[in-house]
Amino acid sequence: MSKKSNHLSGKEVRAIAKENKRIIKSLEAYKNRKADESEYLGHMSNPDNILEIDNLHTYFFTEQGVVKAVNGVSFEIPKNTTVGIVGESGCGKSVTSMSVMRLIQGPAGQIYSGSIRFNAKDTQGVSKVYDIAKMPISDIHKIRGNQISMIFQEPMTSLNPVFTIGQQLDEVSFIHDENATKESARAKSLQMLELVGIAMPERVYNSFPHELSGGMRQRVMISMALASNPRLIIADEPTPALDVTIQAQILDLLRELKNKIDGSIMLITHDLGVIAEMADYVVVMYAGRVIEKGPVDEIFHNPLHPYTVGLQKSKPTLESESETLFNIPGNVPNPVNMPNFCYFKERCSQCKKKCSGDYPEMIEVTPNHFVACHLYGGEEE
Ligand SMILES: Nc1ncnc2c1ncn2[C@@H]1O[C@H](COP(=O)(O)OP(=O)(O)O)[C@@H](O)[C@H]1O
Ligand code: SF4
Ligand SMILES: [Mg+2]
Repeated sequence: MSKKSNHLSGKEVRAIAKENKRIIKSLEAYKNRKADESEYLGHMSNPDNILEIDNLHTYFFTEQGVVKAVNGVSFEIPKNTTVGIVGESGCGKSVTSMSVMRLIQGPAGQIYSGSIRFNAKDTQGVSKVYDIAKMPISDIHKIRGNQISMIFQEPMTSLNPVFTIGQQLDEVSFIHDENATKESARAKSLQMLELVGIAMPERVYNSFPHELSGGMRQRVMISMALASNPRLIIADEPTPALDVTIQAQILDLLRELKNKIDGSIMLITHDLGVIAEMADYVVVMYAGRVIEKGPVDEIFHNPLHPYTVGLQKSKPTLESESETLFNIPGNVPNPVNMPNFCYFKERCSQCKKKCSGDYPEMIEVTPNHFVACHLYGGEEE
């Protein structure tokens, strides 16, 4: 980048475009290759985990340069556990979850490196560990939408307006069960609607999405995510734009369902209140990285990273608007041009000499409670 301004010269733009094209070409070829399953089988580092994300890098190759939206993220989701991912808008929560689902929009968006190990069961019920990051896109149906399903942020954009709820729910059965008949699919759909607490499943079954309230649509989305008996549900901000009572109902429902389906939940939110209520384990993200992770009690009663401490202080009250939750002064660094030192430095009030040096390593301070900050570990200055 030019020293004097943030604007790129024509020459610089052309050089970026050329380099982007070269990298994208090889990543696209890798994604679209045909591969034997053995190429993407692996081992869990702990068999009690359902998911292990290991040093994941997901980038967007833009005209301005490479946006490192997810820049070395690692965390685990144990079986039968809810893991909350929290951080302010733009920190990479959705890109992380979309990477797990392999829904990153190419050619600009690409998983650049890292592993996403998933403790799967194949169609015969045999346990297998797939590295989702290495799967050819044509094999992704083995896990997406059946073993891992996603509840999206905005039900209205995920439900098809021209089909009834029943038609869309039945479709899930047809896709995942080759023996499904019209009658069995309908019965399963009605059962799913009942499971998510819909009192008149028949009526909702015959409705179009626009005929339902926001809370009802979100229930339908959840029933769709459940229809395939997933081992992992990813819920990305599952309660936006819903009033507080409905929000609480949806969260109760998710909690109940986790036990019923005997699975795990990856719950993404910018709302610490939701995390406190729902999560067993918390992953705090900042500017594309995990800066702290730990059991929920530790994160709330013994937060270590100055950013997490700041989040606690700006914790929402019921009356506050979601936009004002993150009132820690200062800005996140430009994602195209990340510094080598701690990304929170410009906003940190506890900064010391060491903080101008290398990016802090992630260290385990108490069992299962990790932080990446120079205030911990190592010798005092
Ligand atoms: N299609 C895209 N092109 C370029 N940058 C993107 C794209 N999608 C997301 N990003 C960038 O990735 C970063 C993380 O975004 P995201 O994961 O959506 O954040 P959030 O934590 O709010 O879910 C942001 O800086 C965002 O601008
Ligand atoms: S590493 Fe330094 S600058 Fe970064 S959060 Fe810790 S104390 Fe603050
Ligand atoms: Mg998001």
